[in-house]
Amino acid sequence: MIPHLLSIRELSREDVLDILERASRLKREGACCSALAGKVVVNLFYEPSTRTSCSFEVAAAGLGAHVLNWNVASSSSVKGETLLDTARNLAAMGVFAFVIRHPNAGAPALVARHINCAVVNAGDGRHEHPSQALLDAFTLKEKWGDLEGRHILIVGDVLHSRVARSNLYCLKLLGAKVSFCGPPSLVPKAFETLGTHIYFDLDEALKEADAVMMLRLQKERQTEALIPSVQEYHRRWGLDLRRLSQLKRGAFVMHPGPVNRGLEMASEAMEGPSNLILEQVSNGVIIRQAILESLQ
Ligand code: CP
Repeated sequence: MIPHLLSIRELSREDVLDILERASRLKREGACCSALAGKVVVNLFYEPSTRTSCSFEVAAAGLGAHVLNWNVASSSSVKGETLLDTARNLAAMGVFAFVIRHPNAGAPALVARHINCAVVNAGDGRHEHPSQALLDAFTLKEKWGDLEGRHILIVGDVLHSRVARSNLYCLKLLGAKVSFCGPPSLVPKAFETLGTHIYFDLDEALKEADAVMMLRLQKERQTEALIPSVQEYHRRWGLDLRRLSQLKRGAFVMHPGPVNRGLEMASEAMEGPSNLILEQVSNGVIIRQAILESLQ
């Protein structure tokens, strides 16, 4: 059991394995529809989301919770109400857990420090996206049984990616080898200090990978020109059919979504048996049920 889910970095290997085992049980036996009966779960999203917000809603509803989907555009935050005041006021209505997405790193942790409710980080700035990493690890564990010694290559806009950071910590906790690949402007060499190998040549890197995780190019977080052009980016670091054929036999292709088709991935590369993208989404509901269930 955990009080909050704020980052993978704060979890032990046992915490991660406990959530993955809960998820396996939920997938096998189904969710107990009264586990969170009478409890309120608030989706507090200050940034757009399809997969994370909807799957937390489906997950919480499946456990019997009442889900409140707070909407930033129609809320009093547009009148200047702060995050903490918003959370304090909602908590006063009797909230069990907040699921928070925010553009600022550390925003969910701030709420957890000041409000007496469970808090789940649904993505904070460039910091972490722990539920995404857990569902990715769960998806791979279902395929391989064990991640020990497996090589996962994470490709693209690592600089802005909370998914890359959470996956790096989570996959390494489970014994996998993690490498990054992309342009030097988006994959700083300094990231090697986090215990990862860095490739700049995607054709070389793909040959070594047991799974490749493509990242969305986060145009909304780029304050300067970090790539020469989208055509050049796709040519050098995009996954297309030619590159798909260079993968090891049985290697998997993943993407957290949403996909910039034709940029980090050609549409044709999103088809085929090696592609786990929609399995990741399905497992997202199960993992988020496991997370909500494991909150104290
Ligand atoms: N993977 C992910 O976080 O997708 P959304 O932004 O749609 O939630």
